[in-house]
Amino acid sequence: MRTGILGTGTITSAVVSGLAGQGHDIVVSARNAQKSAALAARFADVSVAENQAVLDQSDVIFLGLMAEVAPAVLADLQFNPRHQVISVMAGATLDEVAALVGPADAVSVMMPFPGIADGGSPIMALGGIELLNTLFAPRNTVYSMGSAAELQAYLCAQAVLSPAVNMVAEAAGWLAEHVSDTTQGEAFLRHLVGSSLLASECAPMLEALNTPGGYNQRLREHMVEAGLSAHLRAGLEALKNGGG
Ligand SMILES: NC(=O)c1ccc[n+]([C@@H]2O[C@H](COP(=O)([O-])OP(=O)(O)OC[C@H]3O[C@@H](n4cnc5c(N)ncnc54)[C@H](OP(=O)(O)O)[C@@H]3O)[C@@H](O)[C@H]2O)c1
Repeated sequence: MRTGILGTGTITSAVVSGLAGQGHDIVVSARNAQKSAALAARFADVSVAENQAVLDQSDVIFLGLMAEVAPAVLADLQFNPRHQVISVMAGATLDEVAALVGPADAVSVMMPFPGIADGGSPIMALGGIELLNTLFAPRNTVYSMGSAAELQAYLCAQAVLSPAVNMVAEAAGWLAEHVSDTTQGEAFLRHLVGSSLLASECAPMLEALNTPGGYNQRLREHMVEAGLSAHLRAGLEALKNGGG
């Protein structure tokens, strides 16, 4: 596919890395000279062009701008009905994107994670997902959201990643006080938690980890009694309501 990127920043650099080398022609906007040049130097199928040339040379357009600048940037550009637009902008709804890119087709909003670059990463998506699956599956997995409200709920819930990582980091820090090879200690915990979560749904895993009096049950009950579940729920609710 002829694929263009408007806004060559942190997340679209990862998207381009995930797309490159699979038979697509990829043209990225020149504005961030460092990031666009780095992608063109790294991948033979990536070239750099000014914004209008990105549109003129592409059929699928990714919008990787900050949502606040998108109206002004896109107003200067000529979209075409052949364009299929995928927005990665967190702050713009699909309807808002459609209004900015007419007469092009605003196909979907997608929220990737940096791991899209290497594959094996989840992608949250609202709108049509066929194009996203064509571009990114099976290397990455597209999760379809039914509405803007669902996407917003997923955006809140995905923030569990940081406290989850923090818990593993804290446990690794504690372990480091008791073992000689601290690097191995953290690697072990990351391996254990990551592979376990990938291998099983949560409910059966919790059941399997619920041996009466066992280490897992005792630590989980200690944490829940200390407010872990209640604080997590309250934090998610605060995110949903616009607080922190
Ligand atoms: N970072 C993430 O993990 C992530 C995940 C999902 C969604 N998102 C969303 O993705 C969007 C980009 O986020 P980001 O973290 O990648 O930010 P970023 O690195 O700042 O990327 C935005 C890019 O847009 C460029 N830009 C600004 N004005 C432009 C113009 N007139 N023409 C062409 N390009 C222009 C910027 O160039 P300059 O640097 O030269 O200003 C920058 O490279 C945001 O809407 C964000 O909500 C981010």
